[in-house]
Amino acid sequence: MALIIDTHAHYDDEVFDQDREQLFEAMKDKIEIVVNVGASMKSCQDTLALMEKYSFVYGALGVHPSEVEPLTPADMEWIKKESSKEKIVAIGEIGLDYHWKEPAKEVQYKWFIEQLKLAREVSLPIIIHSRDAAQDTLSILKQEKASQLGGIIHCYSYSKETAKEFLDMGFYFGIGGVVTFANGKKLKEVVEYLPLDKIVLETDCPYLSPEPNRGKRNSSLNLPYVVDAIAAIKGISKEEVIEVTQQNAKDVYRIK
Ligand code: NI
Repeated sequence: MALIIDTHAHYDDEVFDQDREQLFEAMKDKIEIVVNVGASMKSCQDTLALMEKYSFVYGALGVHPSEVEPLTPADMEWIKKESSKEKIVAIGEIGLDYHWKEPAKEVQYKWFIEQLKLAREVSLPIIIHSRDAAQDTLSILKQEKASQLGGIIHCYSYSKETAKEFLDMGFYFGIGGVVTFANGKKLKEVVEYLPLDKIVLETDCPYLSPEPNRGKRNSSLNLPYVVDAIAAIKGISKEEVIEVTQQNAKDVYRIK
């Protein structure tokens, strides 16, 4: 039986400190792999610790655009060194976020490009965070020939037309709780448009819990609601969604 892979989670978050162990225990027969994704230098360190402690936790190392201000070249060296660990499957999450005014765009560009170069040096795919910044994200990815790296556009939030541009570059699309929201019409159209073999499941937990648990703390245990939504949109079985997205996740992260 195919099992769900959560391609993007933040279990290092302190909201899981009380019951992380029990939560992971409850996932045993339902979730095959969780990829814990770094967003700051601290969360990258915590990701390594989780990955070492739990066999089904894999990791991605990278710094989110909102957290790049304090970065130093030494931090890049550290990520480069640690990313050679066997269960590190990607560099991310990295990208651009114009929803917030800080850090300045120039600072975000600099560290986005630095981390794309790092991904190339260590031969790993990338996990892209892009919010209110579609055009700049696309132009930097093209300039840096990121289609050669491959990876996932996490929490995809743009139009169908923009999706075509990312698809043409070979990227996968991370689909999570938003696809279940009543106001998630735009994403539903994108999911209808995307080939199933370019979709991967993600929670972004503790954020973006799907209906009927919207607003509560999210976890990988909610992914069946996302599976249901994708199956309904595409008119296929839940089993097919789980099976194909599981294989997609292994392909993009090169997990054997
Ligand atoms: Ni995230």
